[in-house]
Amino acid sequence: MRICNTIEDMRAASRAVRHAGKRLGFVPTMGALHEGHLSLARAAKASCDAVAASIFVNPAQFGPTEDLAKYPRNFERDRELLEKEGVELLFAPSVEEMYPAGAVTWVTVEGLSAKLDGRSRPGHFRGVTTVVAKLFHIVEPDAAFFGQKDAAQVAIIRRMAADLNFPVEIVACPIMREPDGLAMSSRNAYLDPQQRKQALLLHRSLFRANKLWEAGERDAAKIVATAQEEFAAEKSVRLDYFEIVDPDNLDPLDDVGNGALVAVAAFVGQTRLIDNLVLPKRSQ
Ligand code: PAJ
Repeated sequence: MRICNTIEDMRAASRAVRHAGKRLGFVPTMGALHEGHLSLARAAKASCDAVAASIFVNPAQFGPTEDLAKYPRNFERDRELLEKEGVELLFAPSVEEMYPAGAVTWVTVEGLSAKLDGRSRPGHFRGVTTVVAKLFHIVEPDAAFFGQKDAAQVAIIRRMAADLNFPVEIVACPIMREPDGLAMSSRNAYLDPQQRKQALLLHRSLFRANKLWEAGERDAAKIVATAQEEFAAEKSVRLDYFEIVDPDNLDPLDDVGNGALVAVAAFVGQTRLIDNLVLPKRSQ
């Protein structure tokens, strides 16, 4: 695996792959890799001739009171895991390389960036879209792989790629879970054993919503109210949002009969966790 720390080196390496006529897949990450990240690398491997990944803890997407300083970092372990998955190119730039002094340009997806996580994390999606746009320019992939775990991120990046004519296919991959249902996340490492159990409420609330849907409930407000009651009964978990929205534009839906994203975010102690499920497009 070739490790590139500079933009120039990464661009040369990925251009060489593409000039050889290969389809290049790209998996952007912030490191602290788990099976969720690795599933993206596998999906990329399955549909591309070569795979590039990036590890960059992007300061621009963390708020002033968020966990940038303590975000888990373990480059050696991550490098080994990616190598085992057959990733050929790894881009691991420094903050100075990505954001040299004087950089003042942002990429903002208006509207969508203020919904769901964007409402509770102002500026977060602006940081995500700016770094992903930069990464797309540097790596120039044919396809880029993102986890459905961050459903709002996927919708926003799809919008950005369409609006700014990036010649990149955006591929969303399923949420990888622990055996008990907890969505895998680098932030799960912050949870103590008791919080780890409490964190299951996110998955449980989605499971319950799905059961209601299967039983024929189509009124979004009723499904949301049931979830809010479940969170109100569990004082150790603070609900940020439980919303049912259109998966493409993230606008709230009244009726869930025609495809819907059920998304939840909650704090377990200081740790903010997210999860979601997609209800399919069919009326029964
Ligand atoms: P990060 O949180 O490291 O996640 C990298 C990719 O892994 C994202 O596309 C995310 O959705 C996916 N992922 C995380 N947990 C997953 C799970 N349990 N199942 C499936 N996929 C999962 O998301 C980011 O980094 C950053 O915002 C980034 C896009 C790299 C820009 O900085």
